[in-house]
Amino acid sequence: MRRFLILAGLVALLVPLFLPVAALAEEAVDLPTIHPDPSLAARQRGEKVFRDICNQCHSMKFHKNSQDNKPYLAKTPAEDAKKAFGKVPPDLTLMAKARKGGSAHIYGILTGYDPDKNSDCTSAGGFNKYFPGNCIAMPSPGVTEAQARDVVAFLAWTAEPNEVQSRQMGLPVMAYTAFLAALLYLWKRRVWEPIKAKH
Ligand code: HEC
Repeated sequence: MRRFLILAGLVALLVPLFLPVAALAEEAVDLPTIHPDPSLAARQRGEKVFRDICNQCHSMKFHKNSQDNKPYLAKTPAEDAKKAFGKVPPDLTLMAKARKGGSAHIYGILTGYDPDKNSDCTSAGGFNKYFPGNCIAMPSPGVTEAQARDVVAFLAWTAEPNEVQSRQMGLPVMAYTAFLAALLYLWKRRVWEPIKAKH
């Protein structure tokens, strides 16, 4: 019984570490695979892509521009964007969390345009393989593959700064937890064995 309890305790300790991995696997069905680069350099390049391109239409009201420390407001007023594209471009601060698939969804949108199929759509942006329903209001921002990766790294971080960090430290944390569990087990044996022996 005690063995069982210890085992259950160990499992309970370790399971939360694997849950995020399982959740990712489940979401990645149709989407391209992407592992956002957690490095500061990628994130800074990504912020530049956002500032130079995406910020024309999108705000990031909950994230401060690293240059002037003010929240990003869209350069195009919402009403004008609505008139031009038929929709108000959504705020991007938490987008990597808001959509199923997260970073992969955003990366998919940026790389999923297919002008050959634009005739299937009447929306301002035309056809996009990864947009639900395929007809998107956002015109292709024309980013390179590398720019798409960088801006996704940036958006993954703004949506979940701690998760990006923990992805970076996943292995050490896991090793530490295993070490701690082993230590606890040994300690418990030392404390309990003499008591058990007496009864
Ligand atoms: C010219 C204006 C414009 C630019 C530039 C632009 N977007 Fe958009 N974006 C839009 C509009 C409009 C929508 C709404 C699309 C819709 O719902 O059909 C949108 C939607 C999105 C969405 C949400 C898609 C979804 O699943 O609902 C993401 C993610 C996004 N944009 C990312 C970006 C990124 C990253 C950049 C820069 C590389 C960028 N956009 C540049 C206008 C723009």
